[in-house]
Amino acid sequence: MYRDRIRMNSLWGRVMSPEEAALMIHDGMVVGMSGFTRAGDCKEVPFALAERARQEPLKITLMTGASLGNDIDQILAEADVIARRIPFQGDPTLRRKINAGEVMFIDQHLSETVELLRSRQIPAIDIAVVEATAITAEGGIVPTTSVGNSASFAVLAPKVIVEVNLTMPHELEGLHDIYFPTYRPYRSPIPVTAADSRIGLPAIPIDPQKIAGIVITRKADSPSRLEQPDEETRAIAGHLEAFLTREVRAGRLSPSLQPLQVGIGSIANAVMHGFLDSRFTNLTMYSEVLQDSTFELMDAGKLRFASGSSFTLSADRYGQVLSDLPRYRDRMVLRPQEISNHPEVARRLGIIAINTALECDIYGNVNSTHVGGTHMMNGIGGSGDFARNAHFSVFVTKSIAKRGAISSIVPMVSHVDHTEHDVDIIATEIGLADLRGLAPRERAELVINNCAHPTYRGELMEYFRAACRRGGQTPHVLEEALGWHVRARETGRMLG
Ligand code: COA
Repeated sequence: MYRDRIRMNSLWGRVMSPEEAALMIHDGMVVGMSGFTRAGDCKEVPFALAERARQEPLKITLMTGASLGNDIDQILAEADVIARRIPFQGDPTLRRKINAGEVMFIDQHLSETVELLRSRQIPAIDIAVVEATAITAEGGIVPTTSVGNSASFAVLAPKVIVEVNLTMPHELEGLHDIYFPTYRPYRSPIPVTAADSRIGLPAIPIDPQKIAGIVITRKADSPSRLEQPDEETRAIAGHLEAFLTREVRAGRLSPSLQPLQVGIGSIANAVMHGFLDSRFTNLTMYSEVLQDSTFELMDAGKLRFASGSSFTLSADRYGQVLSDLPRYRDRMVLRPQEISNHPEVARRLGIIAINTALECDIYGNVNSTHVGGTHMMNGIGGSGDFARNAHFSVFVTKSIAKRGAISSIVPMVSHVDHTEHDVDIIATEIGLADLRGLAPRERAELVINNCAHPTYRGELMEYFRAACRRGGQTPHVLEEALGWHVRARETGRMLG
């Protein structure tokens, strides 16, 4: 019944159970698995691996595209299989182990992992495990709902296990655009010149001899965990829309704007949702994750084309999009994350990057990853790939967290993911600060007045004035700069 999925007859004999396939993974190996923000992860071998680890020592370095669904990171973390994890995660159990120092987590720009592998700057992959819709007559692997790093993992690994997912519709074939940059230092330009450029192949071209095992699965992707837009996220979207409208009126952008990149999370999804009622038309996306809002905008005729590396949808949307694929297929493409996030392409297309901050400081430095400066949340993901190279880079956040005990606008961020040089716009539900062309002292006034919650505005202004009395290009009272975080750690509240 899966022969229409495995179209190279000579591979039929390699179908095996997940347990047999997992036996090819040994203690100490570097394993590259498919999966990008809960989409297209392999859904059988990881569980067999966790089972084996209960009987024998088995620890691996696990590389993926980004976060995994189906509780895979949780199950593997609980079974103590993961010694090192690269380049992103979003699971509470794994997060606890990372923050306890039990798992070494390398938090990496998502475009960089396979570049580092290809140039042998990090240990090579021993085996790849990738999910597929089908294997073509030539042995090419057709990915499912994400490409992520799967293409390079499969090409670079000496051995590949393919999980063929029978629930994935055949219409996924033709949606992917697999392209590998040539080797440095004589690399040709990556020929993406518009969001809808197609530059590669519909399947991952590998030597079929490397396919060491094929596992059949019928498990679906996990749904995304998006919160519905609320009053604050709608307000953030409103400020951003007003700002973009001013850019259009000033003739700096056309009504179709420039390709949009929108990060993960509820706030980012709400911002995209806000475009539904806007006057912008004929929009395009050049992003990494396509969320529910992408398809809402397509259905409403607002979005002409979406390029991403995965689509990650709520339970309601998932079934509808998979069964309506013929309707969306000509208007979207899934690329390797190296290409969806490539700095060269982001700079060429002039993308508008919209990502989420945990906290921003008064000068515009952004922390997206470390709670209280020390504890990992998810990882930097693709936000740095885009922020540094965007036409302009927007960071959004609610002005307060933990029911107001924490201000997301602080004197100094406790960890820096995006420096002031990469941050052009900050928007909270309070308002928006356009920092372009401003010096640090000018930026601080604007961030405090436009973005900080009224509860914290006075204290922030007091801090800034005291800092200015000390002088400097970027004034600080260093002994107090992280005092708000210290207080939050000790008392749960940033202010007394
Ligand atoms: N200090 C401490 N905790 C904070 C905080 C702050 N300043 N701001 C937010 N939080 C907490 C929230 O309370 C919430 O905690 P909970 O899960 O215990 O409820 C959590 O952080 C998530 O915040 P939320 O407001 O729900 O935002 P989100 O779902 O949009 O996620 C990020 C925000 C920053 C965690 C998320 O966007 C992220 O991981 N970004 C980095 C990767 C990235 O940008 N990728 C983009 C390219 S895809």
